[in-house]
Amino acid sequence: MGTVRIKMAQRHSFSTSNAVIDSAETFVAPARVNLLGEHTDYTGGFVLPMAIPFYTHATITAGSSAGYLFKSELFPKTREMSREDRSSHVGNWSDYPTGVLRQLQQRGIEPPPFDLHLSGNVPFGAGVSSSASVEVATAYALLASSKTSLPLEEVAVLCRAAENDYVGSPCGIMDQFAIAAAKAGHALLLNTRTLQYDHLPMNQGALSETHIVVCNSMVKHSVASGEYGVRHRQVIEGQAVMKTKFPSLRDLGDATLAQLESARADMSHESYLRCRHIISDNARVLKAKDAMFAGDPTALGQLMLEGHASERDDFACSCDEVDFLVETAAALPGCHGSRLTGGGFGGCTVSLVQRTQTAAFTVALTESYQKRFNIAAEIYICEAVDGAALRNAAERPA
Ligand code: GLA
Repeated sequence: MGTVRIKMAQRHSFSTSNAVIDSAETFVAPARVNLLGEHTDYTGGFVLPMAIPFYTHATITAGSSAGYLFKSELFPKTREMSREDRSSHVGNWSDYPTGVLRQLQQRGIEPPPFDLHLSGNVPFGAGVSSSASVEVATAYALLASSKTSLPLEEVAVLCRAAENDYVGSPCGIMDQFAIAAAKAGHALLLNTRTLQYDHLPMNQGALSETHIVVCNSMVKHSVASGEYGVRHRQVIEGQAVMKTKFPSLRDLGDATLAQLESARADMSHESYLRCRHIISDNARVLKAKDAMFAGDPTALGQLMLEGHASERDDFACSCDEVDFLVETAAALPGCHGSRLTGGGFGGCTVSLVQRTQTAAFTVALTESYQKRFNIAAEIYICEAVDGAALRNAAERPA
């Protein structure tokens, strides 16, 4: 029997280079898990993520050279460039912070020479958005070194653009926005078209007796990899058909299932299924808001289960390992619901579990998974924490 690895994900401190380099400042960005609303964030839909206590630390010091230096304790290869350098992506981790630098440069912000050192403990390829965490931490570090600030909405937008335009991954805005704007004890309801958002309390009524349990299938997921791009294209093609048929539609965020049915014959079967997932998931997010305010874990859990079925059957972004984790979780005592979270094709599940049952739940889930796939899953029991904007404001000296 494999070891059951359980991490109580909590706020914790890292040692930074502050102690040895006087002028160093460290900026911190969390990871995120999404409760509902998946792949809805590049067609104007709704998402419901929360920030979780895994962190990227971006420590910035005055440059050791006349240019810019990026290094990471997690990856080999430092990247050095002159201030005039406008080279494009090189295909490794350094593209994420460099993409952020390029976005700032495009906005006329030219940081003075710096060394940027990235560290942290966000699991990679697990669907909890290590890349957006790096981008947002980097953005706050580079803005501070440039003695500039931007509204958090703009930080999120530029970090997404870094990933779309520089890294070359067609992601939506959810991850960067959640990591910047989340609030402790709350989920973030975001309209990805308008960028209006609400912080929804997670402790209403019986919800205060539940835990958010994230289970890492250890099956690697990469947003930059092909399948995400294929789904993205199918969705955009379906949306284009819908907009032609219904000119008043701004995007899928406005669309109804009835409209989709009437446009069905004009699009590929794949586009139809992908759009059906998106339109139904948008509706589920809005119902989840009501369930959260009502403090109703049964209703929220049911929506999560329906969301998973839709990701599995319509969006086709799950895999056997994740389906097994969701089905096993859902059958365990105290579990209200469970689903694939994040981009998909592996990564993590998120489950809503009665606190009194969490310990037994994690043991049973990981043991079943180990037995079935011979993989040691990791479990993270997560509280919702502050996003980077709130953290960095609170932690910086006045
Ligand atoms: C990844 C992307 C997000 C979003 C999710 C799926 O995390 O970065 O923009 O599309 O997948 O909801």
